[in-house]
Amino acid sequence: MAKAKRQYVCQNCGSATYRWQGQCADCGEWNTLVEEAGETVFSAKHDLSKGGRTLALETLDAVSKMPGRMLCGIAEFDRALGGGFVAGSATLIGGDPGIGKSTLLLQAAGRLAKAGKSVVYISGEEAAAQVRLRAQRLGLGNAPVALASATSVRDILATLENFGDRQTADFVVIDSIQTMHSDLIDSAPGTVSQVRASAQELIRFAKDSGAALVLVGHVTKDGTIAGPRVLEHMVDTVLAFEGERSHQYRILRAVKNRFGGTDEIGVFAMGEEGLGEVANPSSLFLTDRSRDVPGSVVFPALEGTRPVLVEVQALTVRLASGATPRRAVVGWDSGRLAMVLAVLEARCGLQMGGAEVYLNIAGGYRLTDPAADLAVAAALISAFSERPVPADAIVFGELSLSGEVRQVSHDGLRLREAAKLGFSRAWGPKGLKPVGGIAVTGFDRLGELVDLMLGRD
Ligand code: TYD
Ligand code: MG
Repeated sequence: MAKAKRQYVCQNCGSATYRWQGQCADCGEWNTLVEEAGETVFSAKHDLSKGGRTLALETLDAVSKMPGRMLCGIAEFDRALGGGFVAGSATLIGGDPGIGKSTLLLQAAGRLAKAGKSVVYISGEEAAAQVRLRAQRLGLGNAPVALASATSVRDILATLENFGDRQTADFVVIDSIQTMHSDLIDSAPGTVSQVRASAQELIRFAKDSGAALVLVGHVTKDGTIAGPRVLEHMVDTVLAFEGERSHQYRILRAVKNRFGGTDEIGVFAMGEEGLGEVANPSSLFLTDRSRDVPGSVVFPALEGTRPVLVEVQALTVRLASGATPRRAVVGWDSGRLAMVLAVLEARCGLQMGGAEVYLNIAGGYRLTDPAADLAVAAALISAFSERPVPADAIVFGELSLSGEVRQVSHDGLRLREAAKLGFSRAWGPKGLKPVGGIAVTGFDRLGELVDLMLGRD
């Protein structure tokens, strides 16, 4: 017979052990093991080869219908999804508390409801009155969204299963999955087993009914969806909602997408009336730029097929010999900074080893584009030599360990975006072709850029 065994489940990665430990053996996090009711353990006598029903097997050449897409009308949201929500799919939206997840989803729910979709918004965190007040503030007081404050998955499913005159909901928001509980499991809400079981039942409902399901998830400090990484594997699409709370802009980024690319982003600005779309992100990220200051460089980043200009800032402080210099990076990979510093030192003779180095991507933006290498190098050279990079220049290119400047993808797109915003020159890899009236200077090696910036011949 089946029996349940107690076990300890890591609240970070979801791995389970039968003995308590201070540190999770799988992900290495400390103090994350919590006792939870075990999954049902079947004895070996339970023979799975008996009693199943025969499956109807299909061929590969049969024609499948593409799942239906549903645009919410917020173009930045639809773009991040790869063209709207997919019927019968589950999407997880993760982000820090207070970043604007509930606001964004309420806005999407309101738009879809006004467009005639049947929309259900379940809040496990706020009372219905609170959600209603927010909707009114967002100008969505008259949107026909069906609203409930609930946390029991059983109650939610019972409600959804005979919903509206068409007996089905088109769009369902669960805010948040960490507050839900399934009575099939006796662990507390928010634990990995609860989150997993609740998500499983809700996702099964979405697949069966054809509703587009959105689960809101809180994120832990290291950037994973709180507790269950497992959740990321269960859903079709994972979107991360990012930004600094002290800045107004937010980026919605696809981390996983079974129905589209993962390189598109949506950009929003949080304002008095909720999240507004930012159709031209470059102008937003450059608004507070410090011109003609050493260490400031504009980099044309590429997000998917979309160029975004951001400011790279570097500061170097020479130390009296002997002290250990600090290296601090915000918005970029610290390993990559160490590499650029090493290349500057070994290939170009710039001795920054004894200096403290601070690197910051302005506005709280997070760069992953490898073409940022040359922009970072230029910012470092500029800060170290106290010579500003011309304010009308953009800089991009990938660096190799030998000090070579490499070509990067989509240089035309990057140049066109810069031209649109009034930049008139670009420093980049050799062979760069001028586009949109921008004068280009191409470099084979990083040393050539150093020579140009330091006025050497
Ligand atoms: P919220 O959507 O509740 O965040 P989350 O669900 O991710 O926890 O948004 C929280 C913040 O957004 C809150 O500090 C208030 C701010 N906000 C605005 O600035 N303008 C608005 O119109 C709304 C609705 C919220
Ligand atoms: Mg919320």
